[in-house]
Amino acid sequence: MTAKELRGKYLEFFKARGHAVIPSASLVPQNDPTVLFTTAGMQPLVPYLLGEKHPQGKRLVNVQKCLRTNDIDEVGDATHGTFFEMLGNWSLGDYFKKESLSWSYEFLTSPEWLGLDKNRLAVSVFAGDDDAPFDEEAFEIWRSLGISEKRITRLPKENNWWGPAGETGPCGPDSEIFYWTGAPDQVPESFNDDNDLWVEIWNNVFMQYNKNIKGSFEPLAQKNVDTGLGLERALVTLNGYDEIYKIDVIRPIIEKIEEISGKKYDETISEIPLNPPFTKGGNQKAMRIVADHLKASAFLIADGVEPSNTERGYVLRRLIRRAVRYGRQLGIEGIFCFKIARVAIEIYKDIYPELSREENSIEEQLTKEEEKFAKTLESGLKQFENVKIKIKNDSAKSGIISGEIAFNLYQTYGFPVELTKELAKEAGLEVDEEKFKDEMKRHQELSRAGAEQKFKGGLADHSEQTVKYHTAAHLLLAALRQTLGGDVNQRGANITSERLRFDFSHPQKMTPEQIKEVEDLVNEKIKEDLPVACEEMALDEAKAKGATGIFDSKYGERVKVYTIGSPSTGPSTGSGQCSGSAAFSREICGGPHVERTGVLGNFKIVKEESCSAGVRRIKAVLK
Ligand code: ALA
Repeated sequence: MTAKELRGKYLEFFKARGHAVIPSASLVPQNDPTVLFTTAGMQPLVPYLLGEKHPQGKRLVNVQKCLRTNDIDEVGDATHGTFFEMLGNWSLGDYFKKESLSWSYEFLTSPEWLGLDKNRLAVSVFAGDDDAPFDEEAFEIWRSLGISEKRITRLPKENNWWGPAGETGPCGPDSEIFYWTGAPDQVPESFNDDNDLWVEIWNNVFMQYNKNIKGSFEPLAQKNVDTGLGLERALVTLNGYDEIYKIDVIRPIIEKIEEISGKKYDETISEIPLNPPFTKGGNQKAMRIVADHLKASAFLIADGVEPSNTERGYVLRRLIRRAVRYGRQLGIEGIFCFKIARVAIEIYKDIYPELSREENSIEEQLTKEEEKFAKTLESGLKQFENVKIKIKNDSAKSGIISGEIAFNLYQTYGFPVELTKELAKEAGLEVDEEKFKDEMKRHQELSRAGAEQKFKGGLADHSEQTVKYHTAAHLLLAALRQTLGGDVNQRGANITSERLRFDFSHPQKMTPEQIKEVEDLVNEKIKEDLPVACEEMALDEAKAKGATGIFDSKYGERVKVYTIGSPSTGPSTGSGQCSGSAAFSREICGGPHVERTGVLGNFKIVKEESCSAGVRRIKAVLK
């Protein structure tokens, strides 16, 4: 089965059961400062799991692109990857355990759908603890579906509880479905968590709690279902493969790496003849890392991430640099990352059009980062070899690479500390990470002292800054419409704590005068310190009031409308400043936003460029 077939079947199955298909959200969470990346399909849905109304109803289904980096060091083996797609279906206060579990079971086992052997399935349910009771309901449902009691295992929170993704948010007990990947005639009578041949393929989460800042679990107003079926793993299972690198959305990337390196994936060589010599390792591991990391990097860049030394940018940098290192190990010379990323773009572009739209940025960013690192990689590796020999010959050093040395490799040669740790491990050494962190801190304090003098008072924290950019995006859209005309519509937005990227429909390049006019108008509205008011209203009322935003929802749905300048009806938000003048901006939006525009600071457009046919892109910052 191909990825395309599986995605299609899944969506079709749940569509037939009343679910609306929603698009995949960005890998960069747009309104959730508690997480760096979208790691599960439920993440972009948090406001709706907490009770807000979703414009497309109470039953949703999608394929969500996800990135998980907690197992990044395991990538290279047969099963781990960083980027993956998650098939998921949701009930927002609608159906609950019975439908959810029965549908999962039907989809997996019915010959009309995936047709998996029932005898090779086992499940687990939440065993219960002080926070929540044993999930007897799920247990009984599984029994009634015909699963033998021996194959229904009760597991603790550690295994059978999902979320929240960040520190706070919706969560609840879950029930996992496992498939026996060993010989079909040797399926054990009962499920055993320690046996790796039982592979988890689907997770049904019953989100009925909210974990609050104090760490306790409050019942949610509505009972939700959140499920996740990893596409790659399901394909491995369905096709009877022994590794993810054989599935159709990865295999062509491996083949391209074989072509570029002139090496074979299945060939294992014990020592790679390079100077300095790399340590032992096969082609397979290196090719898997290169394939996984460059695919993930292409997706990250398409969603607006750029390599840097902090947060998301640092993760991207690590992925690219690790891929470059393994590419060299395979004997690839010259700039190669984009050649491989391009294969990933081809594979995925139909379902994720942002990849073709951002193809130029992907090439530019990958190549820039690769060139930067390629310059220092070889001398850094030589330096590492010298260090290695010294440490190995000095018993007083007890096999430890000091924090200073690791910091020097980072600072001078651009080695992310994780790379140094990996090299150390291969050489049977360790890195003194605590001391490395101390060195980093000392260095950062020195540079922050300088930065604080520049920005007096320092920068606002990450999440506050993100919220400010969110409000700035509304001001920008209103200013663009006022300056360029009402035909301007938002086509996309991407916010980090450092900048706003905003795509909008407009046929021509903006003139410098227009850019200045828009910038001035936004700054004028910031200076006026306008109130930002939020109201809930029916969608048609919002439309009648001229609100911009997404309208593809059902009639009668209630939506949140954010108005900047003057609330549309009735009492103001209580902020006291209801001037009676027309609103400057009115948008349908989930929020959150700042309370008054005055806190935004100075708005500056740093770039205006073409994004795709008929769509322009602005990059702007708040200072
Ligand atoms: N959110 C659940 C998971 O990722 C479905 O496993």
